[in-house]
Amino acid sequence: MSVDIPEEAVVSLRQARCVVALTGAGVSAESGVPTFRDKMTGMWEKYDPTQLATPDAFRADPALVTQWNAWRRRLILETEPNAGHLAIATLSERMRADGREFTLITQNIDRLHHRAGSTDALEIHGNLMEWRCSVTGEITEPTDEQLDDPPIETEAGGFLRPNVVWFGESLPEETIGRAIAALEACDLFLSIGTSALVYPAAGFSQLANAAGARTIEINRDPTPITDAVDISVQGSAAEILPALVERALA
Ligand code: OAD
Repeated sequence: MSVDIPEEAVVSLRQARCVVALTGAGVSAESGVPTFRDKMTGMWEKYDPTQLATPDAFRADPALVTQWNAWRRRLILETEPNAGHLAIATLSERMRADGREFTLITQNIDRLHHRAGSTDALEIHGNLMEWRCSVTGEITEPTDEQLDDPPIETEAGGFLRPNVVWFGESLPEETIGRAIAALEACDLFLSIGTSALVYPAAGFSQLANAAGARTIEINRDPTPITDAVDISVQGSAAEILPALVERALA
């Protein structure tokens, strides 16, 4: 199926010297990773993610929160990066080879960008593959056996928890600093597969616009930034991104 990409978007990407792309759950949807606002399935159907992804929930029931995150991690490990992830990795590689700059900021914790080749993505919400001691912060990757027997106690007397940002927690300072610096220097900003509801990421398009960048949104549904961006392309990221990148790099 041919995808309708505005020529203006192709030209903007072809001419950009410094691109920042922000991705959300919509980029991983076609890999089979539920978006954040999809209903959960199976035993988790009766839970609300926003009630499980909090430090209080972990303190109250570390075994339940570990089980839930182990389930999400197993689900993610059964998926593969899709054409959208791969197109972003190709764009990044080709732009840098041409001496241009490309920064990927992701809200996703699934590491599918990483597996597609974007190993330097700025993971502003952390990632679900790394876990850390709740006392020392030491990062480690748990074994499947450990995850099958939650909670996982650490030598420091804490528990292993996912290295992700939970509601009510602050974002990784150094990563956010690098994201802001890239946004303030970019001449093209792409918002891809995100509902643009959760700050600070929801404010990144305004930051880029204030820096004089052109802004493009690629998303299945309209969002609060759709009317504010320069170009809005509605549809599937896994279809739009490969077509856009191929034409811009041709
Ligand atoms: P959401 O689930 O809020 O939004 C996903 C967006 O992707 C929606 O706007 C969909 O329209 C769009 N979408 C779905 N499938 C798509 C596809 N195939 N192609 C293109 N777009 C598609 O997920 P996020 O915006 O990533 O934060 O959510 C942002 C943050 O909210 C998450 O990182 C999480 C949550 O609170 C934390 O956990 C800290």
